[in-house]
Amino acid sequence: MKTAIYPGTFDPITNGHIDILKKAVRIFDKVILAVAEDTGKKTIFTVDEREELCRKAMEGIEKIEVTRFNGLVVDFAKKVGAITMIRGLRAISDFEYELSQALMNEKLYSDIDTIFFVPDNKYLYLSSTMVRQVVSLGGNIKDLIPECVEEALLKKRSKE
Ligand code: COA
Repeated sequence: MKTAIYPGTFDPITNGHIDILKKAVRIFDKVILAVAEDTGKKTIFTVDEREELCRKAMEGIEKIEVTRFNGLVVDFAKKVGAITMIRGLRAISDFEYELSQALMNEKLYSDIDTIFFVPDNKYLYLSSTMVRQVVSLGGNIKDLIPECVEEALLKKRSKE
């Protein structure tokens, strides 16, 4: 059974993340979408909300399990028996950061390998920050986020 983890903050999950996951399940028997409880980022969604949105966004996609983790990502990988970590590589600007993370994770747990997938063209410059900003300012990006995420962002906006 080949299991991989796809860790991230997912504040919120976007179609770019889903694109990466769909590519990963073609290769792995199971992919665990792992929502980091605390990454030092100031998130607009709580971890419960981020996990719930991921769960809803993943409905109907087989071989994906959604969960959350705390602490080192490599400890989580060991716990679930994964030796592969999935990450998305968008623009060149991602490369240095991703490389340093992959190398540090390998130093901490020599069995772990990181596999990078390149998202579809239309998601190459997408980020959760951009999504949050555009929706909060009234922009329409329905094709870049799952419906549940759009609803959740609009709900947050109406409470501001
Ligand atoms: N489509 C859209 N956006 C994407 C994307 C894609 N395919 N791939 C990455 N992104 C965006 C995210 O939306 C996010 O945008 P934001 O910064 O505007 O919010 C950004 O790229 C990177 O975020 P993410 O993929 O969530 O990674 P991260 O850097 O926030 O978190 C963890 C990475 C959780 C894996 C890392 O912090 C971690 O491992 N933490 C646990 C502690 C640990 O082990 N630390 C040591 C690691 S060396």
